Amino acid sequence: MGSLKFYPAKRVLGEITVPGDKSMSHRAVMIGSLAEGTTTIRNFLMSEDCLNTVKAFRMLGVEIEVNPAAVVVKGVGLRGLREPEDVIDVGNAGTLIRIISGILAGQPFFSVLTGDESIRRRPMLRVVEPLRRMGAIIHGREGGKYAPLSIVGGELKPITHRTRVASAQVKSAILMAGLFTRGITTVEEPLPSRDHTERMLSYFGAQVIKEGTRASIRGEPKLKGRELTIPGDISSAAYFMVAAAITPGSEVTIRNVGVNPTRTGVIEALTLMGADIEVFNRRVWNNEPVADIRVRHSKLKGISMGGSLVVKAIDEIPILAVAATQAEGETVIRGASELRVKESDRIASIAEELGKMGARIETFEDGMVIRGPVKLKGASCHSHGDHRVAMSIAVAALVADGEVTIEDAECISTSFPNFAELLSSAVEI
Ligand code: S3P
Repeated sequence: MGSLKFYPAKRVLGEITVPGDKSMSHRAVMIGSLAEGTTTIRNFLMSEDCLNTVKAFRMLGVEIEVNPAAVVVKGVGLRGLREPEDVIDVGNAGTLIRIISGILAGQPFFSVLTGDESIRRRPMLRVVEPLRRMGAIIHGREGGKYAPLSIVGGELKPITHRTRVASAQVKSAILMAGLFTRGITTVEEPLPSRDHTERMLSYFGAQVIKEGTRASIRGEPKLKGRELTIPGDISSAAYFMVAAAITPGSEVTIRNVGVNPTRTGVIEALTLMGADIEVFNRRVWNNEPVADIRVRHSKLKGISMGGSLVVKAIDEIPILAVAATQAEGETVIRGASELRVKESDRIASIAEELGKMGARIETFEDGMVIRGPVKLKGASCHSHGDHRVAMSIAVAALVADGEVTIEDAECISTSFPNFAELLSSAVEI
């Protein structure tokens, strides 16, 4: 298993772009496959997770070209997928296994989904149960709680589903299944989750209705192939935002970042902490807001986070925990129990790894409190097989007093294959 070493930095400087958004890259292949005609996706995220989505849709009979300049999907139309000849392996991609389940629920054939060790531990009943209610026959380990899952779908009926937790993957699975019904399918969430599926489906021609935390879709739309340029992933940009915010003398500009308001929790949280952040040059690309972001080092203070701010920053809590180790006072994060069921138990893994570097973190079932500021130490850390934990530790190393080794760091390539190169290009040692 590969390890990577990261070192203390003098400062972080530069103008960068980060790779395309992971959530949008998955969805562009899925929705492009179900559309009629060609979909051209520029700035597609060429990471393991998203390439597994390409592989999965090829297995379902879709012709997809992966070129350096663009991914080209020859859509087969809503009823054009065909039975896969083998088990679909999603690797580490939670977004893929959950959303594709919704699509497969609408297909009159048999398919089986599995994934790596982490995927096979993640809760699936949250998608299996509503999809069964719509009419799909789904089996899985422990009654459908865990993958592998087998799905035989077909005629589905529209439902209204209230989710227990805010989850874009669950919402998207149900809305995708709703495409294969005659009627209106509605998902209501306790707090608003990311809305890329709704925006992209409507960009491809579907009728999507949003009212507060309710999203509805009218079944059997005619989806038409489109051209898209995927904005930079704000979740990847977050590592550079925090790197600049905590390392004295730093200034980083990140161009073309997706700033969908359901994803900007990291900007809001850092701003509340006193970070010097500018969001400018706002534009819209394929129904998604995009901007440039400039971050300069400044003194940070602890904050309290919960509710919708946590949902909007759900993938950024590990890197915000790193920022909190450098902030004056306590940072309290509550209402984040979803972190327990991500690629790793992120509450436990980030607390353990930052703890090895000297951070003062107390964990709760639904969050943690981080007491700062602390001078972090060099240490030997482990990724827990979780890309976001690995990248967060790498950023923490910039303000440590010695070398930090991260074991099992190859997981970074699930979302950000050029992370280490990009970080070293911006760091002055
Ligand atoms: C994602 C939704 C979030 C997020 C994940 C990507 C998506 O998960 O954590 O990294 O693309 O829909 P949940 O929907 O389970 O909250």
